[in-house]
Amino acid sequence: MALVTTKDMFAKAYDGGYAIGAFNVNNMEIVQGITEAAMDLNAPLILQVSKGARAYANHTYLMKLVEAAVEETGLPIALHLDHGDSFETCKSCIDGGFTSVMIDASSKPFAENIEITRKVVEYAHDKGVVVEAELGTLAGVEDEVNVSAEDSSYTKPEEVEEFVEKTGCDSLAIAIGTSHGAYKFKPGTKPQLRFDVLEEVSKRLPGFPIVLHGSSSVPQEFVEKINKFGGNMAGAVGVPEDQLRHAASLSVCKINIDSDLRLAMTASIREYMAEHPDHFDPRQYLKPARQAIKDMVAHKIVDVLGCNGKA
Ligand code: G3H
Ligand code: 13P
Ligand code: ZN
Repeated sequence: MALVTTKDMFAKAYDGGYAIGAFNVNNMEIVQGITEAAMDLNAPLILQVSKGARAYANHTYLMKLVEAAVEETGLPIALHLDHGDSFETCKSCIDGGFTSVMIDASSKPFAENIEITRKVVEYAHDKGVVVEAELGTLAGVEDEVNVSAEDSSYTKPEEVEEFVEKTGCDSLAIAIGTSHGAYKFKPGTKPQLRFDVLEEVSKRLPGFPIVLHGSSSVPQEFVEKINKFGGNMAGAVGVPEDQLRHAASLSVCKINIDSDLRLAMTASIREYMAEHPDHFDPRQYLKPARQAIKDMVAHKIVDVLGCNGKA
């Protein structure tokens, strides 16, 4: 089995009322934790790499780690560029073996977003690579782009048909109230995604795969563990998992999760180091950290995405 695109995955997910997890990878333990969970559950998988991940770990190292995971698991795995910020970044990933790229020109005016997305689509499709685009902006931080809550905006459903038609993109990320990072909603308020926007978009794009970014649920047990062992993540709040499950049963075919993996890994390492202050072999604390990622991903696959058994 070689790396695959998301085309078949999304067609089956759309019809089957489930979603594929897109998990961010930055090092070997993260790749292993995610892919071991997916293998145990026979789940299709998207591994995604941000510009920051490429700067941290190097394109070739990440590529080889993901190729190793494909070989070890035999699963259909797509390798995706998360939040490509320019044609050049997308081109570099397409030329470097990725099977899917996101061009995120969502902060640009509508016509400019169409123009740059169209250019990436032309290059990508020529090489058999699929493209995710975005309309509407999410609050939060990704690489050096920081979008404040006031500057974020929900996707306008009346724009989606023209956008998809003119760009030829293969999937569309929309803004319905999720945001990046661990601080998504004010503590004490009731988070509510805009399902009316999702429904309106889906009505206008029948059969077309929708993507949700910023979909970590920030489980409080991990926040509490981090706080217990010397951290401070007071006020961290995520998207309720029942709302993500509902989105997955509709037209949402890809759900992006990164912060929850960071939480699981960090909580595990903090706990381990607090309980073993004399240990200094990284394998000792990275082993339970990798297991914590595996457990988190298994939970997402079964309880949120519903893609277990679908590989
Ligand atoms: O959407 C952002 C992802 O969580 C990636 O984060 O840019 O810090 O690698 P990063
Ligand atoms: P979270 O920060 O909610 O995990 O979102 C990740 C994401 O959208 C990556 O593109
Ligand atoms: Zn994102």
